[in-house]
Amino acid sequence: KILILDFGSQVTQLIARRVREAKVYSEIHPYDVSDAFIREFAPKGIILSGGPSSVTEGDTPRAPQAVFEAGVPVLGICYGMQTMAEQLGGKVQSSSHGEFGYAAVRAHGHTRLLDGIEDYQTAEGHGMLDVWMSHGDKVDAMPTGFKLMASTPSCPIAGIADDERGFYGVQFHPEVTHTKQGAALLQRFVVDVCGARADWEMGHYVDEAIAKIREQVGDEQVILGLSGGVDSSVAAALLHRAIGEQLTCVFVDHGLLRYREAEQVMKTFGDHLGVKVIHVDASDVFLGKLAGVTDPEAKRKIIGREFVEVFKAEAAKLTSAKWLAQGTIYPDVIESAGHGKKGASKIKSHHNVGGLPEDLQLKLVEPLRELFKDEVRALGIELGLPAEMVHRHPFPGPGLGVRILGEVKREFADLLRRADAIFIETLRDFVDEKTGKSWYALTSQAFAVFLPVKSVGVMGDGRTYEYVVALRAVQTQDFMTAHWAHLPHELLGHVSNRIINEVRGINRVVYDISGKPPATIEWE
Ligand code: XMP
Repeated sequence: KILILDFGSQVTQLIARRVREAKVYSEIHPYDVSDAFIREFAPKGIILSGGPSSVTEGDTPRAPQAVFEAGVPVLGICYGMQTMAEQLGGKVQSSSHGEFGYAAVRAHGHTRLLDGIEDYQTAEGHGMLDVWMSHGDKVDAMPTGFKLMASTPSCPIAGIADDERGFYGVQFHPEVTHTKQGAALLQRFVVDVCGARADWEMGHYVDEAIAKIREQVGDEQVILGLSGGVDSSVAAALLHRAIGEQLTCVFVDHGLLRYREAEQVMKTFGDHLGVKVIHVDASDVFLGKLAGVTDPEAKRKIIGREFVEVFKAEAAKLTSAKWLAQGTIYPDVIESAGHGKKGASKIKSHHNVGGLPEDLQLKLVEPLRELFKDEVRALGIELGLPAEMVHRHPFPGPGLGVRILGEVKREFADLLRRADAIFIETLRDFVDEKTGKSWYALTSQAFAVFLPVKSVGVMGDGRTYEYVVALRAVQTQDFMTAHWAHLPHELLGHVSNRIINEVRGINRVVYDISGKPPATIEWE
């Protein structure tokens, strides 16, 4: 196993992820673990992460001495390289202008770490790597025993190597995907240089996670807010596997869910997996509170607040529960930390169903905290959840509440649900010839939006005066920016026909061709 020491970088979990991808087991621990801990851990190799500090200032983090005395390979990344260089007798200089973003790094000499790993060669035959740099300080004198492994014009010592001891440092970030050969480099390190066994699989993650959950909660009762989304579903399945009857899920139906969603959730979890699920139909309460409210933020707040109220009331009935389980995944952890730091301007108050009611006085268990979305999906499959559920598009906490523009009414929700189901069904049915994938798989998020305006149409011999539905389908990596999906006209025509013919009350369908920015993905 590999020990990753965390110096506070935002992307330390990505290192662990890349190591997992190389099928090697790793654990992340804070940089200030004791020497004894390291000896006991007996790692095959150690990776020092990046971090926000500067080694040129006195009181900043350093690696425990045992790291360099354990007799195993060490890879320092960014700050990790700097502290390694400094601790082993090299020099680090703080520079007034850092380097952030893409850089082309030239590889030097032959090192066990980089040999044969390159993106292209220069005319002179130098191996080059496209990497992601992010640093202020840089190493300006190597410790003895090291040779130069990589450089850029503005960072002459961008990589150092001591093949003898297996000590390496890189100023760039191999863990991010912008560094094209990053995964190859990390794999080279953990498998070839460290000789770690490459036999780790998601199945092992399940065993590890189960052991951890059991140790954490013991024989106490746990409650979990199940939303039907991927994260809470996988968390529920995992907890159920770990603690069975000690888990009770609360599924709050606010009346703004997708077509037959409640039914599906109850079937999958209740009937199929045998999980204890309490289905709370609170649609009357939610729709009652929403009556007459048209402002999007006000609607979000009401739904968020009411959700917490309903959940709390249910939790209060489960007097023996000591733990609240949540499907928090790693990007959520980063996002909330990032927001606190940057005070990013609030575009929409994203409320996540399942947001922690703090005064519940329950202890928190979050078994997915270290995983990325696609890993959560793989875990879901491993746990036997239906592929369809695991690969579902995201759905906002306030649900159809923000997809019915203006005032929310049950009648509108019913119309929208059916139109939306037709759209989704069609996306699943239409396969793109080039890729062989369905349009559902080719889009990141797709849904229908209810517009509370009426327009004139004809049906048979009669004039109609009915509502409009807009279709939205986007492609995106991170949901921060998005392109509208270029759906085939045939598909759009088919959906439009079906909606107008099958959903009485809607006589017009339009397609949203706005990108984000300037539009957002949701309409409210
Ligand atoms: P926007 O509309 O901001 O959406 O471009 C970006 C992503 O966030 C989802 N979204 C929400 N999710 N509660 C949620 O849990 C919310 O209030 C909320 N608003 C937007 C949206 O569906 C998209 O995936």
